[in-house]
Amino acid sequence: MQRTIQDELEDIRSHGLLRSTRMISGRQAARVTCDGHELLLLCSNNYLGLADHPALAAASIAAIQKYGTSSGASRLVSGTMELHERLESAVADFKKSEAALIFNSGHAANTGIIPALVGRDDVVFSDRLNHASIVDGILLSGAHLVRYRHNDYEQLGVLMEKHAKGRCLVVSDGVFSMDGDIAPLAELVKLKHKYGALLMIDDAHGSGVLGAYGRGSAELLGVAHGVDIQMGTFGKALGSYGAYAAVSAELRDLLINRARSFIFSTSLPPAVLAASLAAVELVQSPEGDVLREKLCANSRFFRDSLTGAGFSIPDGSTQIVPIVIGSAVTTMQFSEALLAEGLFAQGIRPPTVPAGTSRLRFTLMATHTHADLAGAIERICTVGRHLGVL
Ligand SMILES: Cc1ncc(COP(=O)(O)O)c(C=O)c1O
Repeated sequence: MQRTIQDELEDIRSHGLLRSTRMISGRQAARVTCDGHELLLLCSNNYLGLADHPALAAASIAAIQKYGTSSGASRLVSGTMELHERLESAVADFKKSEAALIFNSGHAANTGIIPALVGRDDVVFSDRLNHASIVDGILLSGAHLVRYRHNDYEQLGVLMEKHAKGRCLVVSDGVFSMDGDIAPLAELVKLKHKYGALLMIDDAHGSGVLGAYGRGSAELLGVAHGVDIQMGTFGKALGSYGAYAAVSAELRDLLINRARSFIFSTSLPPAVLAASLAAVELVQSPEGDVLREKLCANSRFFRDSLTGAGFSIPDGSTQIVPIVIGSAVTTMQFSEALLAEGLFAQGIRPPTVPAGTSRLRFTLMATHTHADLAGAIERICTVGRHLGVL
């Protein structure tokens, strides 16, 4: 008998995996009003606090006044506006790449770029903890998927020796979105050279945050020139929306001709492009440095305090600080109890993370105050003890 929608929902609910949305009214700041309650926001990717920065808002408003509200078409029809090209040049300057191409989102970038590069006769080597949009891109490509253990470049070497054929692509998050650790990029670059592969890094969580001027994880580790595709997003630290691929001019031409999410979708509107342009400028300014220093200090304080208290936190050094709990049900109880304490930290469950590794994923912002975080840490410890997680 056909399974009803109700059965399916009940199945999800009975495993403690039912998800729903929560509504923020007002701005995406360090404190938000969520479903009517004021909460300290500890699960936003607005790491530098740019989502409500006046410079980005002013740039967006001016762009709407000058260019209107929509691009009206996809990029290859009539939807390439002056702002798309200006943003692409700004990104190429920022990332020190030959060229750049804008995508409508990080998900659209990964599902567009990967199938543009590899197909049935090719192989993709992918870290087991890569973001779901990378997995979606690989599935769409039809390429042979070889997954390696998280950050285990020695196993990657063995697998490349065994499976390399056709065009090979190695793909990894730069900063892992649910774990907050950084990929061993220098080792990945060595393997890419050894096997003549392409290397793609998804730096959604490193862009704007890591390395000189916030150029990202590859810049931080001194290997930017060894990475063929540096994908990054505008919707996290850059406080806007959309994504980019920083690539060679040749690769850009290929993506324009082959990436279906680029070709078959209306391009980003002027207001979004202008906010992204303002953000790319801001992250490279002295103000960007101050925000990164603040974010770094906040992240260190929060991570060290929770680790010192005895929580299970994976090794890492970034603004993403997960407490790994294991059970999906306990994770959601923890999250609910924190809400009652005025803290908004989202529980993350399968399929976003592997089964048995449900977690509370805390993310820090440059705009959190020390007092905000000290108070939060105290309440997290109290709830953790109460639930037997600590
Ligand atoms: C590592 C990573 N890649 C890609 C994406 C998708 O980016 P976007 O939200 O712009 O679609 C995300 C998050 O959403 C992410 O964490």
